[in-house]
Amino acid sequence: MKLVLASDHAGIQLRAELVEHLRARGITCEDLGPQAPTSVDYPDFAERVAAAVARGDFTLGVLVCGTGIGMCITANKVRGVRAALCSTEFESRMSRAHNDANVLCLGQRVVGAGLARGILDAFVDTAFEGGRHAQRVEKIRLVEDRSGR
Ligand code: RB5
Repeated sequence: MKLVLASDHAGIQLRAELVEHLRARGITCEDLGPQAPTSVDYPDFAERVAAAVARGDFTLGVLVCGTGIGMCITANKVRGVRAALCSTEFESRMSRAHNDANVLCLGQRVVGAGLARGILDAFVDTAFEGGRHAQRVEKIRLVEDRSGR
């Protein structure tokens, strides 16, 4: 398992904590920044992570901004990406088990670090259940085809 993470300026602190948490768990991860607290535009970072996951360079991606919303909207524009905005461990677990989500979006202004670590652990530790859920995920792919993405 190999993860890729990025944030905007409003998610730097939480992203750093999550990178540290993943490394402490022995999970390989690449941190795409930013490192400086200067204001940046979240779509730039969301696209880098989403594209890297869509290419298959990483197993899963994690994006953090103030709310997680902008990151999630942007990441879901990339074909093959199923980004989930989660503020509970339950949502995170279900996004993997039922939706085969491959990018987790978090809001630093929404969840505390402890909860965020739990949400991330649930995301990393839960497998897609397949079965009836696989045909639904396939239908998501067909929507991408029909929308020309
Ligand atoms: C930045 O102020 C904020 O708009 C951004 O981090 C994010 O919450 C957008 O969805």
